Amino acid sequence: MKQFISVHDVADINAMVDKALYYKANPLIDKHLGANKRIGLLFLNPSMRTRLSTQVAAANLGMESILLNVDNKEGWALEFEEGAIMSGNTVEHVKDAAPILGNYFDILCIRTFPQLKNKEEDYSELLVNQLIKYSGIPVVSLESCTLHPLQSFTDIMTIKETFKESYKPKVVLTWAPHIKPIPHCVANSFAQWMNAWGEADFVITHPEDYELSEEYTRGATITNNQEEALKNADYVYVKNWSTYTDYGRIYENDPKWMLNNKSLSLTNNAKVMHCLPVRRNVELSDEILNGPNSIVTLEASNRVWAAQAVLAEILKASPNPSKERA
Ligand code: CP
Repeated sequence: MKQFISVHDVADINAMVDKALYYKANPLIDKHLGANKRIGLLFLNPSMRTRLSTQVAAANLGMESILLNVDNKEGWALEFEEGAIMSGNTVEHVKDAAPILGNYFDILCIRTFPQLKNKEEDYSELLVNQLIKYSGIPVVSLESCTLHPLQSFTDIMTIKETFKESYKPKVVLTWAPHIKPIPHCVANSFAQWMNAWGEADFVITHPEDYELSEEYTRGATITNNQEEALKNADYVYVKNWSTYTDYGRIYENDPKWMLNNKSLSLTNNAKVMHCLPVRRNVELSDEILNGPNSIVTLEASNRVWAAQAVLAEILKASPNPSKERA
């Protein structure tokens, strides 16, 4: 694996899930793999789970991780536009910074959220693409403007780990209310991975005018009727997202879309997932989060093993990038 930006970087999802589960059972088995290697983590936006699970995964592989919070002025404000006249707030161009980072590190990771103002700009994934172009080393997305591949990989791992029946599970991605316009990354990415995986009956439910990009949802059953969607579900993945067509807006905030025990009773005693952080009693009810059907803690804990599987694949594909650069 040369990079991890989307599901397209994974040759075999089931093999990767097996690898992640293997690391869960044997965390330190490849402690030698990352010896004398360094991973750099650039955060342009906040994180708890992604930041810490990636660092734990790197440590399990014997790598040193170094983190730079670009978002809180720890690092210089970076410019990503080609040909920019840098007379504003940005101080350093990625063209100048990325090759240096490429010499410091063996793998480079970046988290960057969309602005939710200009769809074409956000969906061009300029920041990640510029880092790939100019760093010259493998880049891992820790969530980009449009996708969150480490989360989705973990989500499929968690479904495979917990589903013990012989039939295809029914997995429902349901929109939930929120007070702020939220990026599409988790929902886009979950849909992209579920459709690529193809081993579930995958349904998406959301209010009218909350369609996601067809690029990611194509292949799923889509309905505005949440009750209908929830019937016989084995897994319910709860997530808010803002509008896509009329980009980055909130049209709907009806609490009836928030999953509770009554709506859960329509399902096949479904397990409930959420990437976290979650606004309790806005996006997801206390009764669900505190109840026996919630697997959000397992899901978040599994982030370590998914990240470890990804980093291991990259290290194996490029066993000594430092030497290659010399
Ligand atoms: N789910 C997730 O990515 O969590 P963080 O934003 O805390 O990293």
